[in-house]
Amino acid sequence: GLLQKEDWHAAWIGAEEQQREKGIPAIPPSPLLRKTFSSKKIERALLYVTSLGEYEVYINGRKVGDHLLAPEWTDYHKRIQYQTYDVSDMLEPGENCLGAVLADGWYAGRLGPVRWDENYPRRGAYGLDRRLLLQLEIETDRGKQMIISDDSWKLFEDGPIQGADHFLGQVYDARKQQPGWDTVDFDDSEWKSATVDSDLQTGKRVAQMNEPVRQVATVTPVEILEPEEGVYIFDMGQNMVGWCRIRLEGKTGTVVTLRHGEMLDADGSLFTDNLGTALQKDQFILDGNGARTFEPRFTYHGFRYVEVTGLDQKADKEMLTGIVIASDAPKTGSFECSHPQINQLMQNVLWTQRGNMISIPTDCPQRDERMGWMGDALVFAQTAIYNLDMAAFFSKWIVDIRDAQADDGRYPDYAPHPYDPNMRFSDAPGWADAGVVVPWRLYQNYGDKRILAQHYKSMKRFIDNIRRHNPEYLWQHATGNEYGDWLNGDTITAKDYPKSGGQVPYLLYTTAFYAWSTSIFAKIADLLGKKADYAAYSDLADRIKRKFNQEFVKSDGRLKGDTQAGYALALAFDLLPKSLQPKAAQYMVKAVKKYDYRISTGFHSTILLMKQLSRWGYHDIAYRLLENRSFPSWLYSIDQGATTIWERWDAYVAERGFQQSDMNSFNHYAFGAVGEWIYQNILGIRFDENQPAYKHIILKPVPGGSLTWARGSYQSIHGLIAVEWKRQEGSVFVSVSIPANTKATLFLPASDVASVLENGEPVDQNPRVCRIEEGKAILHLESGSYHFKADFD
Ligand code: BGC
Repeated sequence: GLLQKEDWHAAWIGAEEQQREKGIPAIPPSPLLRKTFSSKKIERALLYVTSLGEYEVYINGRKVGDHLLAPEWTDYHKRIQYQTYDVSDMLEPGENCLGAVLADGWYAGRLGPVRWDENYPRRGAYGLDRRLLLQLEIETDRGKQMIISDDSWKLFEDGPIQGADHFLGQVYDARKQQPGWDTVDFDDSEWKSATVDSDLQTGKRVAQMNEPVRQVATVTPVEILEPEEGVYIFDMGQNMVGWCRIRLEGKTGTVVTLRHGEMLDADGSLFTDNLGTALQKDQFILDGNGARTFEPRFTYHGFRYVEVTGLDQKADKEMLTGIVIASDAPKTGSFECSHPQINQLMQNVLWTQRGNMISIPTDCPQRDERMGWMGDALVFAQTAIYNLDMAAFFSKWIVDIRDAQADDGRYPDYAPHPYDPNMRFSDAPGWADAGVVVPWRLYQNYGDKRILAQHYKSMKRFIDNIRRHNPEYLWQHATGNEYGDWLNGDTITAKDYPKSGGQVPYLLYTTAFYAWSTSIFAKIADLLGKKADYAAYSDLADRIKRKFNQEFVKSDGRLKGDTQAGYALALAFDLLPKSLQPKAAQYMVKAVKKYDYRISTGFHSTILLMKQLSRWGYHDIAYRLLENRSFPSWLYSIDQGATTIWERWDAYVAERGFQQSDMNSFNHYAFGAVGEWIYQNILGIRFDENQPAYKHIILKPVPGGSLTWARGSYQSIHGLIAVEWKRQEGSVFVSVSIPANTKATLFLPASDVASVLENGEPVDQNPRVCRIEEGKAILHLESGSYHFKADFD
């Protein structure tokens, strides 16, 4: 990498900044840049490149690397990522050509919150001036050669990409192609010289630390519908994120338009009401030179359905392929069980996760928002970590959070935060707290204390700011936007659902988060050996808890508001005295029964409710909620054909249609946090709070509900952990594998081990049962694979 600023010799090049009009679309075409140079025999060549806006680089007609949307999203005023590519094999001894294309991306393009800014889009979120910074370092047999971006590059401002924007889409005019523009022989005598901006002030250049956005899968259409003559709707069969590759043929000037949507309207047309100002529209203008394959690159869409109009040819399924893009984090989890809808639910969770990992963790991939909303990531982080290796992705995002922290310590509601950090959209309880909770999740799962050390001061500033404004230990001042337990039962408008009273009292909710973040911070201080802070923040956490009890808890364990959410929060964050906990758990169960075994919780408390039901022995109720087919429930959406997680329980209700359309995403992961419960209870794979990162593994599978078997695994940082169980005629068979150099404690779902099996045959009886706790046999296991058979009671 280039570690110091002085290691960079390149200059920011591009076109002169163009003023933009208000309105859609007001995007100037993507500039093309090129330079030829000659080289001796090449031994090794490394290309360092970044841009304001997005870039693609070509060498001798071939695209460099497989990154998409590079250099990805950071607060460009503070940090700009650069990418490094080994291009040794792409250069030739002799003449070579470098080419680059630039587009708006997050830098100059539309961004969620900026839609509320009246000057937008004239201003751009970070700037409008798209520029390239490139340094090619070649080791040749004659020494080192360096090619940099400078004013010797040539520029062409009217290339085939006539406009590209993440929300709006891309317009590609094949008639404007410059054949061979990125090869040596091209005649660029008509091209201008690139301009250099030597005064440009940008953020620190840093190497990209997380997996790049790449094409991670392809999807082929399952069906073509034709609601009107000449209007074709391709059903991809899967709500996905990315774009389409399409093969087109037609007369010159033919405009083929692709519009993308997640659902169909009642009349069979494309449903786009939930997109806000995002158009999700790509256009290809043909040049009449035979069949060609097109695909946009500087935009992305959330869609299951693609409406294609303007075709000169007959639509057929083979002409179109869905290109799925995501930050390419490796898969770590697997899950399967006897219940097909629960399997589908887990598939939906994973699709939703991938679709919302486009450089940063977004709330949704389709409407004009797509922000790194912190509350959503906070609740989903643990599920995300089971599914994919999130270490690098979240480590990068934590820096985005830090970059967005306000001067007084407030964390943002979303990161990156393209506003001035001191402006609105900061410090919302349950959102801002992600600045403490997500690093803590990384530590719990991956054991990396460096993250905590790097982030320590920042977390402390966040807690101190709340304390400063709230000397009475309730988080009632400096609370920023009051979102609360987002999209809880009270926001459901379907007729057959009684108003649930699901809304947890706001001050109870905010103070619960204050207590939780403070106690996590105290634990972190302890881990890092900061004794004075440990004492001070443990004391603060105790005071908040005491106040919480005075204000919201009655002597019989009942909580103010008597909501499912309130009990779930208080139990999950350990806010109640020991003696009241089981009683509060009983009230929590009552609150579930009161609503006919339905969920009235919102984003933040739903997973907590599920986990607390299990923790206090009400597995049957947790299973009942999970398996519930009637509305509102997870499986209700599956029965409606969902292939991703919906933002709202009632996003679409058969008898009523769509929920309010301006906030109704079909690809929103927050309620998918139930994945955490599934991994931790159906499979029973858990880390040990006291020995993080799976050095000691807790295995607590709980067969329940109508499930007869389940199996799955987690690729922990210490190796593969696998669990499988099967219920059969009064017995349960349990198999586990424990990686090398770890130990595990297995809680068998039985009070005794009938037999230990090897190759299906019983061997010595009951060798490792240590004790029976809550009716469960507890076994301490070393690494290896084990099979047990026990009576299932
Ligand atoms: C987003 C949410 C987010 C919320 C804040 C919404 O528009 O889509 O998921 O957390 O705003 O309340």
